[in-house]
Amino acid sequence: MAATLESSVEDPLRNFVRVLEKRDGTVLRLQQYGSGGVGCVVWDAAIVLSKYLETPEFSGDGAHALSRRSVLELGSGTGAVGLMAATLGADVVVTDLEELQDLLKMNINMNEHLVTGSIQAKVLKWGEEIEDLSSPPDYILMADCIYYEESLEPLLKTLKDLSGFETCIICCYEQRTMGKNPEIEKKYFEKSPS
Ligand SMILES: C[S@@+](CC[C@H](N)C(=O)[O-])C[C@H]1O[C@@H](n2cnc3c(N)ncnc32)[C@H](O)[C@@H]1O
Repeated sequence: MAATLESSVEDPLRNFVRVLEKRDGTVLRLQQYGSGGVGCVVWDAAIVLSKYLETPEFSGDGAHALSRRSVLELGSGTGAVGLMAATLGADVVVTDLEELQDLLKMNINMNEHLVTGSIQAKVLKWGEEIEDLSSPPDYILMADCIYYEESLEPLLKTLKDLSGFETCIICCYEQRTMGKNPEIEKKYFEKSPS
């Protein structure tokens, strides 16, 4: 930890925290890294999806719709979306590649005082097996995960393998108009589980 603090003093952009204010006034704090893979920062789609989970659409007149429901997040990055769901009462598994596990665990630790459900981090590389996920989750959440052409088929396989008839998949992404992005997006919607 001391090394992290020292390095952030030397280069303040190496580690920086994104703050996500909740409707109830509490604040999620998300550690980011200034260098590393795309998962090391909070993407706009994660903010949008997190805020969407707080809308009245999910709270109705009683308990929050995510309360005590199982939630699996794919490509969690910093874990912003999964953490928001866990503070709304969901039992969450945030997943990403091996190299994101330390950041995910750090962000879980930093925000555990706000969690009213539960949250744990696991390795899940799309297209491969995940251990200890016995039954299909109630919800699968994804923020900004459909922009890699090479990982589209593995992602679709994971969605098909892990979802059940009752699973609600919520996918939030930034619509990108450059390069192959429109084609990838179209392919995702043609092939994703309905
Ligand atoms: C653009 S980032 C979005 C991160 C986070 N959901 C957000 O919106 O802030 C895409 C995420 O997908 C993850 N990812 C990319 N390819 C993956 C794969 N083949 N298997 C699992 N995760 C992958 C990356 O590690 C990264 O965290």
